Amino acid sequence: MSIYPPEPFRIKVVESIRLPSSEEREAALKEAGYNLFSMKAEDIFIDLLTDSGTGAMSQEQWAAIMRGDESYAGARSFHRLKNAVDDIFGFKYFVPTHQGRAAENILAACLVKPGNLVPSNMHFDTTDANIRARGGRPANLVIDEAFDPDNRHPFKGNMDIAKLKAFIEKVGVLNIPFGMMTVTNNAGGGQPVSMENLKAVAEVYAASGIPFFIDAARYAENCFFIKEREPGYEHKSVKEIAQEMFALADGMTMSAKKDAIVNIGGLLCLNDEGLFQNIKNELILREGFPTYGGLAGRDLDAMAVGLYEGLDEAYLAYRLGQTAYLAARINDAGIPTIQPAGGHGVYVNAGALLPHIHNYEFPAQALAVELYREGGIRGVEIGSVMFACLDPETNKWHYPKLELLRLAIPRRTYTQSHIDYVANSLAQIKARADKIRGYKFTYAPELLRHFTARFEPL
Ligand code: F0G
Repeated sequence: MSIYPPEPFRIKVVESIRLPSSEEREAALKEAGYNLFSMKAEDIFIDLLTDSGTGAMSQEQWAAIMRGDESYAGARSFHRLKNAVDDIFGFKYFVPTHQGRAAENILAACLVKPGNLVPSNMHFDTTDANIRARGGRPANLVIDEAFDPDNRHPFKGNMDIAKLKAFIEKVGVLNIPFGMMTVTNNAGGGQPVSMENLKAVAEVYAASGIPFFIDAARYAENCFFIKEREPGYEHKSVKEIAQEMFALADGMTMSAKKDAIVNIGGLLCLNDEGLFQNIKNELILREGFPTYGGLAGRDLDAMAVGLYEGLDEAYLAYRLGQTAYLAARINDAGIPTIQPAGGHGVYVNAGALLPHIHNYEFPAQALAVELYREGGIRGVEIGSVMFACLDPETNKWHYPKLELLRLAIPRRTYTQSHIDYVANSLAQIKARADKIRGYKFTYAPELLRHFTARFEPL
């Protein structure tokens, strides 16, 4: 029996949602070219497309928004954010950005030269694309366990240290402008990285003089997993664990839309003064003055409060408990998901549920469409639509190892009955899985194609 953790909050404001009829759902799918990114939100009943910027802000965050200082330079809001960022992350310098990918863009613009390579456990798709957009090549060096969906390794987001060393040896330090780690590893199932592994990665980068940046989008969830799973951390606070983690790195990028529980915002933090100067110049060109970075003052204030709420341990226990509950309910229905459950979402193994659909006919996209058809629920494909790519050297298509449907859970937004409804809808689909067919592209752009592609059922 899986247990649903009682929410450590109660509901003060509600937003109505509606389940369209099955005819309406069918018409909406057709109009969107079977791409759930192209649908109208009002046609969605339960939206698990992303946990990014979709959470519910607290009364303290809304109150902070009223205190937003909209001064162009040196706003009080900036200084309140700075206090929180300095306290939690401890880097010498930082700039706000409008979201995570803006921080990635600026970092890549300042550091990546054509032909450079950037290793990580696994880059998220925007990080991957920002590196490629500057002529660089991202490299994913996560442990092999990450690709075995049934393996219950407690830290499946870990870097393979032997692979990292061999990679640096092979491509040469001079071709690596910086190295990364994504915590938790979103592209690999929201799986955490252990402190032990982060220390080992930091040592390898430091020994080669490679600056180490953490993609900190879901750092608080990662730190809570460390507290729960890594010996020696059970008595440390999540904040102390976070401070220990960031002390290992030279900088970080962060989408604040996740663990800072805001609707918009990002951070770029670092210790190198010269690089900070370049970053500020780039920021002014693309985002805004360094004390607001493309955000309104009120957004900075919401982030300053949300950073602490994201570290609250009662909240994190509920948060990770809710995700684990959904995974358990889906598994009870005989549907495989990546094990163990990740932090921010459940990754349904669409390849295993729909083995008759080839990767080039997009099984996870087919499942995403089917889940909307069944219950008005929107998830996101993380498989060949998102990640299959043409290798420029060999001119061959590379397909990802797993075809997944991610059900990302917005923070503090849905209740147990919503979560049960999602699991029950998937159980209905399983009963007719062998009749589901694949899809083909009718349009696909070159980069980040999952956002705007259109499909046709086969
Ligand atoms: N890094 C990670 C690990 C992410 O998951 C994301 C966004 C980003 C960077 C980029 O941040 O959206 O603020 O520009 N992930 C969202 C998702 C979009 O649905 O997983 P952003």
